[in-house]
Amino acid sequence: MLENLKKYTQIIPSAFGLDISDSSVKFVQLSKERRGFGISMFGEKFIPEGAVSRGLIKEPQEISKILTTVFEKFKNSGLSEYAILSLPDEQTFLQVISLPFLSDEELESAIFVEAERNIPIDLDDAYLDYFILEKNGDTLKILLAAANKSVVDGYIKVVVDAGLKPVVIEPEVIAIARSIVSEKEKNNAMIIIELGANRTRLIGYSNYGANRTSSIDFSAEYINNLVVKELKISLQEVKKLNWDVNLLQDPKYGALIKKVIEKPLSDLAKAVKNNITSWDSDEFKINSIKRIVLSGGGASIPSITEKISSLVGIPTDIGNPIQNIRGGKNIPMSQKTSLLFTTALGLAFRGSNLDERNIYKDFV
Ligand SMILES: Nc1ncnc2c1ncn2[C@@H]1O[C@H](COP(=O)(O)OP(=O)(O)OP(=O)(O)O)[C@@H](O)[C@H]1O
Ligand SMILES: [Mg+2]
Repeated sequence: MLENLKKYTQIIPSAFGLDISDSSVKFVQLSKERRGFGISMFGEKFIPEGAVSRGLIKEPQEISKILTTVFEKFKNSGLSEYAILSLPDEQTFLQVISLPFLSDEELESAIFVEAERNIPIDLDDAYLDYFILEKNGDTLKILLAAANKSVVDGYIKVVVDAGLKPVVIEPEVIAIARSIVSEKEKNNAMIIIELGANRTRLIGYSNYGANRTSSIDFSAEYINNLVVKELKISLQEVKKLNWDVNLLQDPKYGALIKKVIEKPLSDLAKAVKNNITSWDSDEFKINSIKRIVLSGGGASIPSITEKISSLVGIPTDIGNPIQNIRGGKNIPMSQKTSLLFTTALGLAFRGSNLDERNIYKDFV
């Protein structure tokens, strides 16, 4: 009892953000400072090809081993044993529904009926969660989120096997929005395009949060491979080219790279516009969306913002995922790096805001 009490009252580093993608494991630990939060550590460890595929953990022992290495290396420097995880978009089903105002009990069963109607997986084998986005007169707008139990349990198992304690697992688009949407924009309608190594997601954010998603056939690795073919250099060398505007002025490669990215960027912009239009939603009309914000490694592709803003017709910028860690002095991360850590930062930010007493007591 006394031992438990001692553990309970000691200061636990708040849970860290852990983003497992098809290519790497990324982590971010925030620490409380006098004003706001600082980033006390962050890192990325690449994982062997195929160990995670389209968000499914195919080689759990491999992933656990990598997580164990990370945890063992950083725990003495203050990496928490509590982790906040994200579930990749491919494995998460989100749907916004409207329901009349109901009692709590009626609401639960109405939600289940609506989920069965709207979510394309067997709910007997799924975890289902919901969040009330808006109460408007007699109507409730509710976000449903579901994922196959086996997928979620797979994520939990690799983390637990590495000696970590998963306290929250949430859809990655929610973590991305937490990083990208600034406090002063939180009532606007905007689009986030997360351009990762393996995939691109389009996220519709409105005054009540991230509530629409589509995936687009584009990725940073797709561009890297096109550049490999055109420049006839290895993928490793292509990855060393630093994506920024100056790259297009490079005397050796500039013109070739410009040629390679021209069509894929146009196709991406067209797909963005088509997807937003296909949502056919009042919040996300092209002329009511204030801004498009890009995140993920692919956000640094030269000329991408100009291409999207001119073809979609919405002002487009690169995101600044550390903007919400307000007041902290210790932010040893450039904006460019932070774009790769958008998800992990959003998860860590949630970790730093958890009510410790409630969350951690179950683990003491
Ligand atoms: N400054 C840069 N210069 C060149 N390439 C970059 C740069 N920054 C990122 N990249 C590319 O971005 C990709 C990594 O992006 P990111 O870390 O967002 O992907 P991921 O999270 O691993 O993948 P996903 O979320 O799609 O599963 C790699 O393909 C990398 O080559
Ligand atoms: Mg990613």
